[in-house]
Amino acid sequence: MSPIGGTVNLGITVIRSRHSVRKYKDSPVGEKTIRDALDCARLAPTARNEQPWLFGVIQNRETLRAIADLAANARFIADAPVCFAVFGKKDAKYYLEDCCAATTQIILALQAWGVGSCWVAGEKKDYVEDVRRLLDVPEEYTLVSLVPAGYPEEIDIAKKKILDDVSFFERYEEED
Ligand SMILES: Cc1cc2nc3c(=O)[nH]c(=O)nc-3n(C[C@H](O)[C@H](O)[C@H](O)COP(=O)(O)O)c2cc1C
Repeated sequence: MSPIGGTVNLGITVIRSRHSVRKYKDSPVGEKTIRDALDCARLAPTARNEQPWLFGVIQNRETLRAIADLAANARFIADAPVCFAVFGKKDAKYYLEDCCAATTQIILALQAWGVGSCWVAGEKKDYVEDVRRLLDVPEEYTLVSLVPAGYPEEIDIAKKKILDDVSFFERYEEED
């Protein structure tokens, strides 16, 4: 349901239908879909157009299990058909924002192809270095996010704040 009503817009439908998915069907995610998600990541906006990133795709079950062992907050990575890993180049001033933009584009591109995924924290977690080493990524990069993905087996619908409580027009005013 759109607050402005009117005709269906596919891009908006993709954004509105996305939910974090942590349980996946066994079916693999096709290479075309994976490559499209990567390509959409590559097209994300970046400060000064620096594109300070590196995108990993992990499908090897042993490696997925090893990542899941490190990321205790996301054990479900072990059972995902695929996991994307977004790394940022630490010397780029806005690498965190840039890589978050790219992560969103991966998630939305996957959603457009019917593939569910879940953003998994990287940057602030104590496993960043271990994941980087596990994947042989050069030291100048740091893990920003992990995105396990697959066709949804189960979808959790998270409760969202209402728009009026989290927005303002022109100047913020306290409620009486
Ligand atoms: C920066 C960030 C880190 C997150 N880390 C995790 C995580 O480590 N494990 C997890 O299960 N979900 C993680 N999530 C997913 C959130 O729990 C989820 O987005 C939130 O509950 C809202 O649900 P929705 O994505 O379905 O809208 C993360 C999301 C973001 C944006």
